[in-house]
Amino acid sequence: MSLKITVIGTGYLGATHAAAMAELGFEVLGLDVVPEKIALLERGETPMYEPGLQELLRRHVAGIEGSTGRLRFTVDWAEAGAFGDVHFVCVNTPQKHGEYACDMSYVDSAIASLAPHLHGPALVVGKSTVPVGSADRLAAYLAEHAPAGPDAELAWNPEFLREGFAVQDTLHPDRIVVGVRSECAEKLLREVYAGPVGEGTPFVVTDFPTAELVKTAANSFLATKISFINAMAEVCEAGGGDVAKLAEAIGYDDRIGRKFLRAGIGFGGGCLPKDIRAFMARAGELGADQALTFLREIDSINMRRRGAMVEMAREALGGGSFLGKRVAVLGATFKPDSDDVRDSPALNVAGQIHLQGGQVTVYDPKGMDNARKVFPTLGYADSALSAVRGADIVLHLTEWQEFRELDPAALGEAATARVILDGRNTLDPELWRRAGWTYRAMGRPTA
Ligand code: UDX
Repeated sequence: MSLKITVIGTGYLGATHAAAMAELGFEVLGLDVVPEKIALLERGETPMYEPGLQELLRRHVAGIEGSTGRLRFTVDWAEAGAFGDVHFVCVNTPQKHGEYACDMSYVDSAIASLAPHLHGPALVVGKSTVPVGSADRLAAYLAEHAPAGPDAELAWNPEFLREGFAVQDTLHPDRIVVGVRSECAEKLLREVYAGPVGEGTPFVVTDFPTAELVKTAANSFLATKISFINAMAEVCEAGGGDVAKLAEAIGYDDRIGRKFLRAGIGFGGGCLPKDIRAFMARAGELGADQALTFLREIDSINMRRRGAMVEMAREALGGGSFLGKRVAVLGATFKPDSDDVRDSPALNVAGQIHLQGGQVTVYDPKGMDNARKVFPTLGYADSALSAVRGADIVLHLTEWQEFRELDPAALGEAATARVILDGRNTLDPELWRRAGWTYRAMGRPTA
């Protein structure tokens, strides 16, 4: 008989994981404590923009015409507890307000709500990004509070999906990492992931702390690569040099690799910034803070790039105040193919210029609703062309494909002055210059 799976938490991670599990052929029950989210998912709609997710949901959500009916949703913990052989915990671990540490309250409360309903053998699998040591603590809690006692086991299985590629990354991951304490737990997880593993995805079996650390280490490494190239951009700006060429040239060395070496206004989103901070906070608690002091520098290089973009804009406008200047901002989300504006460098730069008196108009292909909620006082336009109309300067701050395909000549007709600053190093400088624009990018010489 095929395994039954519950997925607790239906945000980015949970909604994608639940749909992917149904795609792999399992009966799945998704649980969330927010009834509105459940109602949306039951109609096959997503709470966020994520390419391919809506289609996947519609293929499996029960009650939708033509679906497999393998995916259902609930708000009832008892139903979830009774349903699953395997319970994936996919809730958020945001940064604590005013602190570096991560807020474990959603994970803790998910485990506390589920435990009393585990009457028979069950495997509870944490997927959230947590401080090392959490799984140990949660396993002890489960053993004490689940009626099934030691038959309710814990495992840790970090998730590495990227926003914008969530479906692809979940169905075809680079690797699967599981922290387990028994052969039985390993066997169950091998069964769950038989599909991707059969296609050649490596399956790494380890202990709890290593499984927890793999995720934070991977995100710290990615953040370090981005801040490294942004530090090189600072040096290129000071000493002359082209950071894009530099990245290309060092990236040809296989040991370095070309990915995650794109200089610009830096990283944002719901993961990298808070994960490196939570990692530092946890290392501090463990007395190993010295090991991660470099991450403080990674964080500050990253935050500095946002300020550098503001200063680049000020200088391009002739220096002095932004008062009375019309600034078009292309991009609001922290990355393309997502509507996520959490800790978005683009919105941060737009906000800084607005607060300094600039008349800012933002356009983003998918992030407008979320941006308006976070920053209602900014100006918004419904296309790149209308954002640019009358602008004294254009800032390209999120690397959407749509912006790469813009016609610089048409935009030039609409703008007051043809000045564009590329905060993501993804536009074609020659294309813009040929259409009469002054094109400048971070870490690159002015032509
Ligand atoms: C990240 C990890 O990549 C993923 O494995 C983990 O599960 C969650 O955190 P995500 O937050 O979706 O995923 O974003 P990612 O694609 O890593 O990009 C993060 C930020 O870095 C974005 O703001 C992006 O614009 C920026 N970035 C990326 C750069 O500035 N330069 C680069 O070269 C690459």
